[in-house]
Amino acid sequence: MYPDFIDLNRISQLKKEGRLIPPPEMIKTKKQIAGIKEACTLNTMLLDYLEPHVKAGVSTLEIDNLTLEFTSSHNAVCADFGYMGYPKHICTSVNDVVCHGIPSAEVVLQDGDIINIDATTMYNDYYGDASRTFVIGKVHPLIENLVHHTKEALEKAIDAIVPYETTIGDIGEIIENYANEHDLSVVKKFTGHGVGLALHEEPYVYHFKPNEKTYTIIPGMVFTIEPMLNLGGEEIFIDEEDQWTVYTEDGYPSCQFEHTILITPEGVEILSK
Ligand code: MF3
Ligand code: CO
Ligand code: CO
Repeated sequence: MYPDFIDLNRISQLKKEGRLIPPPEMIKTKKQIAGIKEACTLNTMLLDYLEPHVKAGVSTLEIDNLTLEFTSSHNAVCADFGYMGYPKHICTSVNDVVCHGIPSAEVVLQDGDIINIDATTMYNDYYGDASRTFVIGKVHPLIENLVHHTKEALEKAIDAIVPYETTIGDIGEIIENYANEHDLSVVKKFTGHGVGLALHEEPYVYHFKPNEKTYTIIPGMVFTIEPMLNLGGEEIFIDEEDQWTVYTEDGYPSCQFEHTILITPEGVEILSK
């Protein structure tokens, strides 16, 4: 059963047109949405709290320690910890690390670096997921551009969503086109995802134009969009030793921003703001 905020007439019309419609399991109830909002708010508070600490001379392990302290003191849980064996509480991805960088005492931020901090907070069993890329001191103009355009790509995709019209595939197409227009490449291996009752749920959200038919976006869906754009080529590899850290093949920097969004009858609400 769909919640009562879903327009069933529109759903049946779209089905007649041959559109792929998310099943009720992919739609959150009002109660679940309220819980997910709380988790997202805490996650945003965490990123805001970390921000002034993200500066030259600070190690990514120190940022991880602050994360655990903050989250525990708010009676919440760092959902990354232990997820498929992940050893720390956030992901800290510096320069040519695309994602899943593991916080370490050996990684000390320096002027000219960029760092993505990706945090997932669980509160009362609900999840919120977001990431931001921070610039340390003065970075190369090309890197400044990379950061600017990655943020824009995410925002443009969010702005384009019209419930009952836009598809999940449209999101990818917008991001891919935007990246290409700005001479950036899109990492294909990692996607956005449904989130809320678990860290990763359906649907998976591509950051490029997929070949297959994708879901039409309808109210009550909660999912992330989290493009990873590279200054150089799109190729990546995973660290042999830790089996987590993802690097760009060519060593050029990579950037990411992530939001958790809720589709409402009117449009989109960014929950991780
Ligand atoms: N926050 C990541 C995401 O956006 C998931 C990280 S899982 C971890 O999907 F295990 F690497 F932490
Ligand atoms: Co994330
Ligand atoms: Co995510």
